[in-house]
Amino acid sequence: MAVPELSRAALMQPRPGPVGAVKRLLPRTLFGRALLIIVTPVVLLQVVATWIFYDRHWDTMTHRLAHAVAGEVAMVVEQLDRDAGPEERRRTLEMAARHMDLIITFEPGGRLTEPWSPSGNTLEQTLSRAIDERVYLPHSIDTRVAHEWIEMRIEVPDGLLSVMSPERRLYSSTTYIFLLWMVGAAMVLFAIAIIFMRNQIRPIRRLAAAADSFGKGRDLSPSFRLEGAAEVRQAAAAFLMMRERLKRQISQRTEMLAGVSHDLRTPLTRMKLQLEMFGDEPEVEELKADVVEMQDMIDGYLAFARGEGTEAPVPVDLARLVQDVAAGARRDGASVEVETGGDLLVQLRPNAVKRCLANLVNNARRHAKHVRITAARAAGVVEVLVDDDGPGIPAAVRDEVFKPFFRLDGPKGRAGGGVGLGLTIARDVARSHGGDIHLQESPSGGLRAVLRLPV
Ligand SMILES: Nc1ncnc2c1ncn2[C@@H]1O[C@H](COP(=O)(O)OP(=O)(O)OP(=O)(O)O)[C@@H](O)[C@H]1O
Ligand SMILES: [Mg+2]
Repeated sequence: MAVPELSRAALMQPRPGPVGAVKRLLPRTLFGRALLIIVTPVVLLQVVATWIFYDRHWDTMTHRLAHAVAGEVAMVVEQLDRDAGPEERRRTLEMAARHMDLIITFEPGGRLTEPWSPSGNTLEQTLSRAIDERVYLPHSIDTRVAHEWIEMRIEVPDGLLSVMSPERRLYSSTTYIFLLWMVGAAMVLFAIAIIFMRNQIRPIRRLAAAADSFGKGRDLSPSFRLEGAAEVRQAAAAFLMMRERLKRQISQRTEMLAGVSHDLRTPLTRMKLQLEMFGDEPEVEELKADVVEMQDMIDGYLAFARGEGTEAPVPVDLARLVQDVAAGARRDGASVEVETGGDLLVQLRPNAVKRCLANLVNNARRHAKHVRITAARAAGVVEVLVDDDGPGIPAAVRDEVFKPFFRLDGPKGRAGGGVGLGLTIARDVARSHGGDIHLQESPSGGLRAVLRLPV
């Protein structure tokens, strides 16, 4: 039996309270959660690895490279100090350019224009410290002098030395490769995880869809098969077995009901014939009326049993169906007004739904003068309202009237006479389609029956 209260929105709603608050932050779908489970440790690992790498490797590397450059600068400074004339100095500078990748120019008598201290830049700090340790001379560093070049200006006793060093002499390019590798690996992993998870989750989605359509009384999609991981297959197999058992149970019940009703008809007909021969004393008339009532009941039973039979769900325009029912009621002299709107194409068993609607309309016209049917589409469902301007049903017994043979006016006081199966059958039809019927008060004063069927 369908459980209409268990709507999709309710399923997606996290619990209230602190646990719910945490859960609200997490992805709702299995896909999202699985991805999170895979990706979180990897990203965490990478962050830790990167951090260690920076702390250890990168720091040491910069430190060593800076010291190497500072050492070379110190050597050049010392050599220049020893060189006797400008010619020798020129040769020293040339040698530095050739062998050390350093472009050094000397400005005799030059001075640092202003005192300099390293900014927050790690490279500047490390390099400045290395020069302090190796050269012991006032200096300034400019990391933005040119693209991929760094300039160090060193004040020697008789002038200013400008040392241009390519950036690569101070940076380790493995840093970038490492980072690139990290990010790249994470991306590849992410892509693989997405592809694999998709394939794992598809069978679960299909199973959910199959269970949903079974609940709406529809057939299994022909493409449904056992697929996916062992547990999912197991769940799907269990679902199929449950479905078979339920179908068998329903058909057994239906067959029994039909059988009993049919078998009761024959003796009843016999009784009716025999009563005809007894003349028309009041006692006989009463007995006749009882037999007629019993026959009505049995007809109701048979109609109910047949409804559950073999009819297959097909796409039906509910607007047409409502019009048909209304036309039938009008032929019987009822005043019925119909209003339909929107796309009302639904998968349903047309004869069963027709019977359901006819029962509602018959009730309305039995108790009221005017009937109004409205069919429209709402969120995920189609809604048919049957309004009348009769006495209505008190709220306290609106659930009771759905019980078989329950009649408000009691078994004998028949307001146009009914068996008490109409609403039972109507609700059964609605529920076998995954929908339901509720009773409310109509704006026109009488009863409003609301039939909802999932789309
Ligand atoms: N539109 C209505 N207005 C007032 N009372 C209603 C209305 N529809 C149903 N009822 C009450 O609910 C009871 C149950 O309705 P239900 O359709 O199940 O049985 P019935 O109409 O008596 O018999 P049947 O439909 O099997 O011929 C009715 O006996 C009637 O008292
Ligand atoms: Mg009825």
